[in-house]
Amino acid sequence: MKRLFERKPNIVLVGFMGTGKTSVGRRLASQLRMRYVDTDDIIERDSGRRISNIFSEDGEPAFRDLESDAVCKASKLYNHVISTGGGAVLRETNMKVLKQSGIIFCLTATPEEIYRRVRHQSHRPLLQTPDALAKIRSMLAERKPYYAEADYMVRTTGRPFREITGYIKHVYAKNTRGSKR
Ligand code: S3P
Repeated sequence: MKRLFERKPNIVLVGFMGTGKTSVGRRLASQLRMRYVDTDDIIERDSGRRISNIFSEDGEPAFRDLESDAVCKASKLYNHVISTGGGAVLRETNMKVLKQSGIIFCLTATPEEIYRRVRHQSHRPLLQTPDALAKIRSMLAERKPYYAEADYMVRTTGRPFREITGYIKHVYAKNTRGSKR
């Protein structure tokens, strides 16, 4: 069903860590002449702290509260590509405001591919564990129903960026034909 937006809707990217939200989002924004915003960046900018410090000092629930504030802020923008943290889908209220602000695309990848992409990175507190692949598998299974709330699922494993952005742009154009900026 087509939703009604007062202005041209945002493109909202959700999806597990390492599914390419930042890389795809930045490319989309530049190709479509839209602005790019990332909820993790909003959290770090507003709090003046790194995500990993928020997790280690205050715990995950405190991080989720800051994340909801950031999601609300981002949802008020327009003509933006909004990239969200992998767990933003977990709160129903986040999904509700995101749905009002744009079309939600969930980027997906296989657990093995996610592991390959993130294994040398250290900025994601939830994956700092000896068996990161097992953790990725179990978190993906837990979060599956939340990611399924997105409007469109977009596979990224083995697909070039050109194809991924091409698909999203095509769907976005189809959904926004006739709407004002
Ligand atoms: C998280 C994903 C991270 C970041 C935080 C928690 C998650 O964002 O918000 O570490 O719960 O999946 P990315 O998906 O951009 O890595």
